Amino acid sequence: MSFRLQPAAPARPNRCQLFGPGSRPAIFEKMASSAADVINLDLEDSVAPSDKDSARANVIAAISEHDWGTKTLSVRINGLDTPYWYRDVVDLMEQAGERLDQIMIPKVGCAADIYAVDALVTAIEAAKGRSKRISFEVIIESAAGVAHVEEIAASSPRLQAMSLGAADFAASMGMQTTGIGGTQENYYMLREGEKHWSDPWHWAQAAIVAACRTHGVLPVDGPFGDFSDDEGYRAQARRSATLGMVGKWAIHPKQIGIANEVFTPSEEAVAEAREILAAMEQAKANGEGATVYKGRLVDIASIKQAEVIVRQSEMIAG
Ligand code: COA
Ligand code: MG
Repeated sequence: MSFRLQPAAPARPNRCQLFGPGSRPAIFEKMASSAADVINLDLEDSVAPSDKDSARANVIAAISEHDWGTKTLSVRINGLDTPYWYRDVVDLMEQAGERLDQIMIPKVGCAADIYAVDALVTAIEAAKGRSKRISFEVIIESAAGVAHVEEIAASSPRLQAMSLGAADFAASMGMQTTGIGGTQENYYMLREGEKHWSDPWHWAQAAIVAACRTHGVLPVDGPFGDFSDDEGYRAQARRSATLGMVGKWAIHPKQIGIANEVFTPSEEAVAEAREILAAMEQAKANGEGATVYKGRLVDIASIKQAEVIVRQSEMIAG
């Protein structure tokens, strides 16, 4: 490890982020009573341009009107390339109640995008005497976003989470797909005439995880559009968890349970992690740095791997 220690990411569950259009207030109560850890009320791409003003008013009212429990409550504002975003920030910060936790900034391309929103939020917080410091989350969903992912992860102490937005990312990269995440028909290798599908999102995800872990930010997998394909969602979520992501978006309530299951370390995984820690305690007592657990090598690095699983499980339980 470099002498500069890796900062811890915020210690809060972020297994599932449930989205709902700000223009559909009839679902807000269902969102509030769902099992998602994070709620994202959307003012951006699920809201038609003609509904932007009314959606903003709906969301501001809903923040105070519903009981959001212990969930992280976040609002996705419009992108900085639109005429809507400044009004989103100003009205939210001036009018929304103290229950609001977080603002999600979409389509970020560089650290200055976050700087601009931070300056506005900081000024309004002070002017209005807001007592809760609003946190940020961002979506990496463009070529520029992924090219500048590290400076974005380091951009503001307000930044808590970063998601991959597959659809806009695919469009910005010029990828030939209209699917939102998951397996892509034409992304395969051939071996002895058999097709083997690979994961076109892998590189962007790994880049996001590395940037987030370097700067103490939660890495999150974004939407999976085909909500009739539970197994496809589960497979994508499992790959993301394996790469170090802590959660995934749900764009339909049926995806929430799957995300919670995948991103909660299983009892077996936690039990095995505890056994590895015990085996390493024994090894240390014997003056050894490495030992054998179930026929395989475990050493001092295994302690850190096992601790990731135990810590995640304890944080979710707590
Ligand atoms: N949150 C909470 N409840 C939701 C919901 C959501 N995002 N989406 C649907 N529901 C509710 C419906 O109201 C319905 O409830 P009911 O059984 O009490 O009538 C139930 O879940 C089943 O909904 P269903 O009929 O299958 O879906 P739909 O046709 O009403 O809506 C979508 C489908 C995709 C349009 C809708 O889920 C949606 O808007 N998702 C979020 C889109 C979004 O925010 N995108 C931006 C991020 S990518
Ligand atoms: Mg998007």
